[in-house]
Amino acid sequence: MADETFTLVEAAKKIINDRRSIRDYTPEPVSDADLDLILEMGRQAPSGEDAQPWRFIIVKDADARKKLGAIAGGGSGRRFTAEFVTEKMQERFANLKDEAKKKAAFEKLTSGTVSMFLAEAPVNIVVCGKKAVWDMPFDTSAAIENMLLMIAALGLGACWVIAPCIDIRDEERVKALFDMPEGYKAVSILGVGHPMRPHRPRPRLPISELVFKEKFGAPYYNKPEEVK
Ligand SMILES: Cc1cc2nc3c(=O)[nH]c(=O)nc-3n(C[C@H](O)[C@H](O)[C@H](O)COP(=O)(O)O)c2cc1C
Repeated sequence: MADETFTLVEAAKKIINDRRSIRDYTPEPVSDADLDLILEMGRQAPSGEDAQPWRFIIVKDADARKKLGAIAGGGSGRRFTAEFVTEKMQERFANLKDEAKKKAAFEKLTSGTVSMFLAEAPVNIVVCGKKAVWDMPFDTSAAIENMLLMIAALGLGACWVIAPCIDIRDEERVKALFDMPEGYKAVSILGVGHPMRPHRPRPRLPISELVFKEKFGAPYYNKPEEVK
């Protein structure tokens, strides 16, 4: 993107559209200058009453990243096993006809290996939130999205990982690993690095299903093509 010229609107559109969840990284480190920019964008996020309840822990230590990856794997494994047992996962993959691919996907999800990539990301950003702040989950989410967009603008890749923070037992492990005080919640982890390869966009619901006119359910757009 560096050599091209974009209007602000084109640039905003491009960065938002180009951002993908990146789970495979090269070993190349993330520079301190890039990390500074990313964190500054987190700091600039909006928050209810300007409470700014976010705190960020930068984790480069390989052992700590490995431990985080293992906790994330455990969390994902339990979540997806529950989805498999309740057949929610089979529903989600109903359109995938290749049985071998389907089996591989089920194995990757239920074993939790799907979320272990945090260990391979050269930097993990642990996002913590002040529990006493009412809007904290929304505030920290705004900070995370700001950081993800700057990461995309820098040509880096990241994935928002909630897996080690959903189950209270996992979250306690994360908090202990980083000496997080009682008044804070481990909200999510961002794995950040240089993308190993470009990623295709994941599907999105048609805009006509998402936007209503005056009352919930009343169509605003008649055809998805109306928005471009
Ligand atoms: C709140 C939230 C939690 C997420 N947690 C995880 C996670 O634990 N593990 C993971 O691999 N991806 C996680 N993701 C990434 C989503 O799977 C991803 O955003 C989604 O599939 C759409 O793909 P895209 O980001 O490439 O557009 C999370 C995303 C969000 C917004």
